[in-house]
Amino acid sequence: MPKKRILSGMRPTGKLHLGNYVGALENWIKLQDDYESYFLIADYHVLTTDLSTEKIYSNSIEMLIDWLSAGLDPVKAPMFRQSQIKQHTELFLIFSMLITKARLERNPTLKEQVRDLNIENIIYGHLGYPVLQAVDILLYKGELVPVGEDQLPHIEITREIARKFNSQYCLNNPIFPEPEGLITEFARLPGLDGKRMSKSLGNTIYLSDGPDVVKSKLRKAVTDPLKVRKNDPGRPEICLVFTYHKKFNPSETPQIEKDCRSGVLGCVDCKLKCSEKINSILEPILQKRKYYESNLDEVKNILLDSEKRARVIATETMEEVHTQMKLG
Ligand code: TRP
Repeated sequence: MPKKRILSGMRPTGKLHLGNYVGALENWIKLQDDYESYFLIADYHVLTTDLSTEKIYSNSIEMLIDWLSAGLDPVKAPMFRQSQIKQHTELFLIFSMLITKARLERNPTLKEQVRDLNIENIIYGHLGYPVLQAVDILLYKGELVPVGEDQLPHIEITREIARKFNSQYCLNNPIFPEPEGLITEFARLPGLDGKRMSKSLGNTIYLSDGPDVVKSKLRKAVTDPLKVRKNDPGRPEICLVFTYHKKFNPSETPQIEKDCRSGVLGCVDCKLKCSEKINSILEPILQKRKYYESNLDEVKNILLDSEKRARVIATETMEEVHTQMKLG
């Protein structure tokens, strides 16, 4: 049996944080052994929220360094920029004929963004965001798409476009799979203030944060407001630090829960334990980051080599598309 194909991507908006790690990257790393994997740097997608392009390249390199340091292996899985594979723009044009404006206006992530970012004039590209994402996935015939929960509406649109193309142009011989999303248990890691971890909210722990930074960030994290003194009993179920323990320190979690409830364990010590655990996870990532930062040429070569490999697949798919559409 050939391995199933995975495709996923992220927008290069800067350094990655633990939320990105837990919600996606960690999962990608596990999956790369069992599936044929492709990881995309969605640099065109960034333009939907920021037209200035000065930082796109450096942010892409920064994100690639995070990916590599966390354990993605470029030998197993190409990691490439959307903007460098011309077939993305070509298939985007074709797919834009296969979905209605009304369907894209119903996309819940568009509605969220309009609300959160106070966008008054929606640009055409913004409306088409999920169409470009469908291209990202289908150009490589991704069957499984490991993403955060928030991306599921885009996977649904991808399935609809695949179905439409297949039924319109491929009578008995569908060329596109209908991909499925793969969601992790910790799809949404709360940030240091208890809200969703997000750079714009300033509540993140970065993969590139050193041990002292992590310690001091955790020191300020919110815990149970009723646990004022060290020996007050606490309520782990409403405590952010406990959520982190569950994720990063599962073996000690039952004991911590007991000791918090009984009041034996104070928040200061509990936070220290937690930052030590997080630091032990980040330590090897930081080491590798140091290596890649001082070997930037290697990073750039990984990108160029990956892009060559991605281009081969993209070219094959577009040939099939043209054949099915009887173009050329
Ligand atoms: N929209 C995704 C996000 O914001 C990024 C993305 C772009 C993506 N293209 C993709 C994710 C293809 C999965 C597959 O997180």
